[in-house]
Amino acid sequence: MSRLSLTALRKMKAAQEKIAVLTAYDASFSHALEQAGVEVILVGDSLGMVIQGQESTVPVTVDDMIYHTANVVRGCDTPFIIADMPFMSYANADKAIANAARLMAEGGAQMVKLEGGEVIADTVEQLTSRGIPVCAHLGLLPQSVHRLGGYIVQGREQQAAEELLADAIRLEQAGADMLVLECVPATLAQRITEALSIPVIGIGAGKDCDGQVLVIYDMLGLTPGRRPRFSHDFLADTGSIQAALSSYVQAVKSAEFPNAEQQF
Ligand code: KIV
Repeated sequence: MSRLSLTALRKMKAAQEKIAVLTAYDASFSHALEQAGVEVILVGDSLGMVIQGQESTVPVTVDDMIYHTANVVRGCDTPFIIADMPFMSYANADKAIANAARLMAEGGAQMVKLEGGEVIADTVEQLTSRGIPVCAHLGLLPQSVHRLGGYIVQGREQQAAEELLADAIRLEQAGADMLVLECVPATLAQRITEALSIPVIGIGAGKDCDGQVLVIYDMLGLTPGRRPRFSHDFLADTGSIQAALSSYVQAVKSAEFPNAEQQF
């Protein structure tokens, strides 16, 4: 059986069919996600926090990402697999090419994800022109949490919103084939989704994105502390992990998730 392709994901956007994405870090969960009908699995560097117990994603290494990506790839046959490039692993184009190549060749990822706007556009061009598919990540950038001063909604002011839209267009022009938009107002996410021809996947970005992603431990209610406003405990509703995953997929597909209270 072959994995879903970028072409198939683009067709879903064109057909206005919502794309269900979740994070996973191991083979058992990746198998469960596939059974539930999740189309895209993100091996997020959120593993630094939810698996390793770190305070942020900053300490995660390329070797950590390769290890977890390979485990996820072994657990499923059909979902499209994206691996995060960790903090400073794409500080310049040469580093980015070498590390992305390892995530694909050793980890088995089909795409790598990088955080940032205009500043990483040249690097995105270098990667994509060498055949490395890139998912860009805009809005709240967890790797920049110390600079942002916390996990704060981005793009609320007019100027910041226009800059985010310009960044999104620039990244698509640089060759990015997907965009994750994190914690931005729903109206801005809708404008960006309509302006781009590549799939836009939201997390805390409202219902009008082409798809939704959540950190799996958040949507199972396992993450200690306060759950982010944009998340939902699907396990509490359903009582089993497999039912929670299926309920998430159904809620994304029907655009019932996120609802008005789960967006900014
Ligand atoms: O690392 C991660 O899990 C992510 C999501 C929050 C989109 O980047």
